[in-house]
Amino acid sequence: MTRFDGKIALITGGTSGIGLATARRLLDEGAHVVITGRGQAGLDKALATLDSPRVTAVAADTGSLDDIDRLMSVVAEKHGRLDVLFANAGVGTFKPFAEITPEDFDGSVDVNFKGLFFTVQRSLPLLADGGSIVINASWTLHRGLPTATLYSATKAAVHNLARTVAAELGPRGIRVNSVSPGYIGTRMSDEAMGEEGQRAAAAETLAGRIGTSEETAAAVAFLAGGDASYVNGQDLVVDGGLLGSIPVA
Ligand SMILES: NC(=O)c1ccc[n+]([C@@H]2O[C@H](COP(=O)([O-])OP(=O)(O)OC[C@H]3O[C@@H](n4cnc5c(N)ncnc54)[C@H](OP(=O)(O)O)[C@@H]3O)[C@@H](O)[C@H]2O)c1
Repeated sequence: MTRFDGKIALITGGTSGIGLATARRLLDEGAHVVITGRGQAGLDKALATLDSPRVTAVAADTGSLDDIDRLMSVVAEKHGRLDVLFANAGVGTFKPFAEITPEDFDGSVDVNFKGLFFTVQRSLPLLADGGSIVINASWTLHRGLPTATLYSATKAAVHNLARTVAAELGPRGIRVNSVSPGYIGTRMSDEAMGEEGQRAAAAETLAGRIGTSEETAAAVAFLAGGDASYVNGQDLVVDGGLLGSIPVA
């Protein structure tokens, strides 16, 4: 018997990075997992990597309300319910505050906030009482990072969403938490920071390195599962000590 035996989990943005590692983790622990991504090629690659009869891939853009509704219909038809939602799909626009355009704003808010908001809302009819929602936020909601105004604001919004939805869903025994990864080595951080940026980021952490998607997935699995039965409305920071301390020079 493993932690997620027979549980149904939906992971948005499950084709790479933290979402893919979480899919692997939940599958390994017995869950049936539905992953999403924007394109069939990415989904096919993830399906090949995960190589499990318990995984389903659905092309769905979190920035589209129609796609979100279609996704929930597929989950309803295939599984009839959800036990775990990991609202993970996200994008990053990193540039100086003065240069952020209305198009940048809409592009990030549509996915990271509006899309995530309605993903959580539209999952509610499927979520079993006693289920768990984990929202992927970011350490940048706790500490100012130049060039991250837009990104950080969306992440602060979704952490707040976690707390407030937790308050509403308490009576159903559904817990809602967010996870705030620090610097994690993924496609997003490769694109945003490059190799040199990631080396500098590693030096800022007590761990002396950036984190892995698997380390983040372990924290998501903790929040999603029964070990966290008394953890609700919280943000779990997984950052190798980035926020808490200053490394010795
Ligand atoms: N890496 C970090 O340091 C870090 C730190 C804090 C928070 N985070 C958060 O972690 C989450 C995952 O990012 P990652 O670092 O794992 O990066 P990643 O490897 O680039 O993964 C991003 C995932 O989101 C999906 N995605 C992006 N836009 C989407 C959309 N509109 N609709 C559906 N899926 C979409 C991508 O799928 P397709 O490309 O196939 O569509 C991919 O599966 C994000 O919310 C990010 O903000 C990351």
